[in-house]
Amino acid sequence: MAKIKQIIAREILSSGSTPSVEVKCILESGTVGIASVPYGASAGIREAFVLLDGDKSRFMGKGMLKAVENVNKIIAPVLVGMEGENQKEIDQKIIELDGTERKTNLGANAILGVSLAVARASANDQKLPMYNYIRKAFNLEKYGLLQGKNYVLPNPMMVVIEGGAHADQSTDLQEYMISMIGNDSVKENVRKGIEIYFTLKKVLKDKGYNSNVGNEGAFAPNGLPTNETPLELIKEAVEKSGYEFGKDVGISLDPAVSEIFENGKYELAKDGKNLNSEEMIEYFENWIEKYPIITLEDALAETDWGNWPKLLEKIGDKVSVVGDDLTVTNPKLLQKVIEEKAINAILIKLNQIGTLSETVECCMLARKNGIMTIISHRGGGETNDTTMIDLAVAVNAGFVKVGPSRGERVEKYNRLMEIEDELLGNCTVAGSNFRKII
Ligand code: PGA
Ligand code: ZN
Repeated sequence: MAKIKQIIAREILSSGSTPSVEVKCILESGTVGIASVPYGASAGIREAFVLLDGDKSRFMGKGMLKAVENVNKIIAPVLVGMEGENQKEIDQKIIELDGTERKTNLGANAILGVSLAVARASANDQKLPMYNYIRKAFNLEKYGLLQGKNYVLPNPMMVVIEGGAHADQSTDLQEYMISMIGNDSVKENVRKGIEIYFTLKKVLKDKGYNSNVGNEGAFAPNGLPTNETPLELIKEAVEKSGYEFGKDVGISLDPAVSEIFENGKYELAKDGKNLNSEEMIEYFENWIEKYPIITLEDALAETDWGNWPKLLEKIGDKVSVVGDDLTVTNPKLLQKVIEEKAINAILIKLNQIGTLSETVECCMLARKNGIMTIISHRGGGETNDTTMIDLAVAVNAGFVKVGPSRGERVEKYNRLMEIEDELLGNCTVAGSNFRKII
């Protein structure tokens, strides 16, 4: 047991060159924990609130000095003296201190930084890897996630072509991904994914497209004729790499269509189409017939609630229907969509909800209801913080959605491969069993 001695925040930069918050927690034992928070470019409207300074003379208003001050002057004095390992109590205290539904007073960027830094410090103090500490701190044994055992490592889900809010003049849809579902090991799955990424670069160049990259390090070629073209290009890259669709790799899509939904219609400018919800579902059904799509995220808008159950009913037996903007890692929203039978998989982003406790609660609610979890990076700005990977390992997530290029993204895979080594073979990979909750 070690009490919190000091909590200090500072403004740092994230990968998108936008400011972010880093928090350092020092325990009375002298142990230190440091954490930082990411930033979303196509954030859902129900996400926890990101407090920006709004002072146009600094970083175009995107400074985070107010959030930093909230940590140093408001949150820190309340937490100093509390037992660092009482994570749930600490998170609850900050939630009460903020007192709003979406953390609008203190800012989820301030709150998450503290929540993660405290957890990191306590894990370090107890000499436990973060994934192990998370299982202990939240008593996940009662969900079958045993202390130090029973690890099923997540599959890599790698963004290889991006458009939408993540790149200019690319596709209307946001992310085209390769999901590596081989049963060998994390390292093999990562290697195969990277090889496909490089082959895709060559395929693009050979066809006269540029291979410049967008926010997340995925290719963002301009001049693609349709929103379907990336699927053809990925197919070619997978085949040229010598891997088998459906066995080694499947396609994952995050069209993030909340961004193109207006007045009840989906505007697909590249295809010259303006579709209603039913037509949007048919559009994806057609792709599912033609390509080995295994997960489909935000295929309908966050405000198009009524049509999600139809989508799940139509494709849910073949494809994992993933909520992201729809559910924003919020246990209350997840409960609602479970009752409405709207999804069978959920994207999890720590900063959508703002504390480690609520994030783990959301993952466990999903687990209890047979909903697969995918732990995700953010498109706007990432840092080198790798907590999302330890979280994925702690909760036996099916996938981690990140990368496969740029330092802040590959750092996540480096951490995942490190964990595989640390576990000395005392683990398996989700592989082709990703839909079974293990
Ligand atoms: P964001 O997008 O992190 O930029 O909001 C990623 C996603 O929609 O999954
Ligand atoms: Zn998404």
